[in-house]
Amino acid sequence: MSGNRTFTMIKPDAVEKNYIGAILDKINAAGFKIVAMKYTQLSKENAGAFYEVHKERPFYGELVDYMSGGPIVAAILEKENAVTDFRTLIGATNPEEAAEGTIRKLYAESISANAIHGSDSDENAAIEGNFFFSSLERH
Ligand code: CMP
Repeated sequence: MSGNRTFTMIKPDAVEKNYIGAILDKINAAGFKIVAMKYTQLSKENAGAFYEVHKERPFYGELVDYMSGGPIVAAILEKENAVTDFRTLIGATNPEEAAEGTIRKLYAESISANAIHGSDSDENAAIEGNFFFSSLERH
């Protein structure tokens, strides 16, 4: 059974370009409810820990520098089939491959500065949400 929560971050490129409002509008229009939200900036250490699964990838250093280089908006979203439906809404990792109308097609610059993150599984949605929000903050 698929879960009803996912985790997202609006990344530094999209925050810098003042796309927070437009992106949140798309998220709400697609039927997601925002159940937790935070504007913050990751330290290098925290960005490294968040993306630990990519540690062996050649782009890891670039990813950590990039994600700690400016403010982000982290949020937990609720909807039926949240993980799958949200990944459809944001589009492919590489904006050049993202479908028309998706958030990355509309707002992303490149594969590293790709505007928005979406969890890839229910398990990671829970892990990533807990990274930013304690259960106390959520209720
Ligand atoms: P996201 O899926 O949010 O989390 C992992 C990120 O790594 C991904 O978004 C991209 O921004 C980034 N990424 C994936 N592949 C590459 C790549 N080949 N070069 C640079 N960054 C990448």
